[in-house]
Amino acid sequence: MRAVVWKAPFQVSVDEVDDPRIEAPGDALVRLTTSGICGSDLHMYEGRAPMQPGQVVGHENMGVVEEVGPGVVSIRPGDRVVLPFNIACGFCFNCARGYTNACLTTNPQGHGGGYGYSGMGPYRGGQAELLRVPFADFNALKLPGKPGDEFEDDFLLLSDVFPTGYHSTEQAHVRAGDTVAIWGAGPVGLLAGLSARIRGASEIYIVDCVDDRLKAVSEMGATPIDFRKGDPVQQILDLREPHRRNVQELREGSGKKMPGVMCGIDAVGYEAWTHDAPGEEQEPTQAIEDLIRITNATGHIGLIGVYFPEDPGGVDDEAKKGRFTLSLGAAWEKGLSVEMGQAPVKRYNVYLRDLILAGIAKPSFFVSHRLPLEAAPDAYEKFDKRTQGYRKVLLKPNGLAA
Ligand SMILES: NC(=O)c1ccc[n+]([C@@H]2O[C@H](COP(=O)([O-])OP(=O)(O)OC[C@H]3O[C@@H](n4cnc5c(N)ncnc54)[C@H](O)[C@@H]3O)[C@@H](O)[C@H]2O)c1
Ligand SMILES: [Zn+2]
Ligand SMILES: [Zn+2]
Repeated sequence: MRAVVWKAPFQVSVDEVDDPRIEAPGDALVRLTTSGICGSDLHMYEGRAPMQPGQVVGHENMGVVEEVGPGVVSIRPGDRVVLPFNIACGFCFNCARGYTNACLTTNPQGHGGGYGYSGMGPYRGGQAELLRVPFADFNALKLPGKPGDEFEDDFLLLSDVFPTGYHSTEQAHVRAGDTVAIWGAGPVGLLAGLSARIRGASEIYIVDCVDDRLKAVSEMGATPIDFRKGDPVQQILDLREPHRRNVQELREGSGKKMPGVMCGIDAVGYEAWTHDAPGEEQEPTQAIEDLIRITNATGHIGLIGVYFPEDPGGVDDEAKKGRFTLSLGAAWEKGLSVEMGQAPVKRYNVYLRDLILAGIAKPSFFVSHRLPLEAAPDAYEKFDKRTQGYRKVLLKPNGLAA
């Protein structure tokens, strides 16, 4: 089969590799109809996460079941399915409690398995024609309809970024009426915004520096904040001024002491640009530091953007080991809660699928490209440079490219 293979930093190619096969009774083989390129793939693309040459990449996968092992009972060849990027067993201590992001069975090197990803076990990715799915009964979410229908791209986003965006609103404790600030208007930040809207947030601000991503923020009805125009924290404080007088200052002075938001989400991670030189200079704690400033006392912060324990391209020796200096004192003094880590996709995907089917969520609104597998090397390069127009690239390995 044809597959996207990681060769070296900034180098992927579409190669002929062996077809996957059923290796265990619970496996299924899926013929991919759509596989996304994710912001998370870019860390490996840039050599900012340890990677073996020859690895087939791609963790955002959906398609049609081609074959099942003898132990599979709930899906059959011909079924349309989407797979969480976490590969989970369903029966270990963590899976049983809903933490499929930290499955203890599927990754021989530690906790948490995944397709085609650094440190997440020996599994090939799905930017390919075929994919082996372990523990298929537990991992495959069945989908109605036919490949290429109006929901194809919405369903693909159930593999990662929609549940991931939703999980960040859980980490940040977003409830009806809450005020929310999100750093990063990539796919994860935008779907964190959509999730905050679904959960009834009253104000949603999303910060970035890329024009067409900020445009997508406006399109979804949230407030875009362009950090090239000045300190994003101050911009949000200025915009909140009237709200704060209307809402929080019903008792004299209380709004002045709570001028920021109650919920902050970091959808950027350790590859954050500095305010002054976006696209040129990185400061791994830029987003976190801004969030500590903008989040009110007693508020909640979710770190959904990635921070790795090892970063060969880190800005200094400490960053190379995943160690950062933070304003912990300011966060403690405010009594902030901070939650972080990988999203347990399985916990949410069935509910989010049903929001799509009910017409309440259309997460694919920002998808910009639907390309054949062969276009992957060029698409990686453009998406990595945050080239205007490249908001989200979906690969169509079996003929559905637009
Ligand atoms: N926790 C999880 O389970 C999970 C799952 C998927 C993705 N992620 C991570 O989430 C993050 C975002 O993913 P994505 O696909 O949206 O990636 P992306 O790279 O497309 O988006 C990141 C955005 O942040 C912007 N940005 C950079 N510096 C900034 C700053 N200082 N302030 C505000 N915005 C800034 C960039 O311009 C870009 O638009 C990545 O770190 C990714 O690895 C985590
Ligand atoms: Zn992803
Ligand atoms: Zn498990």
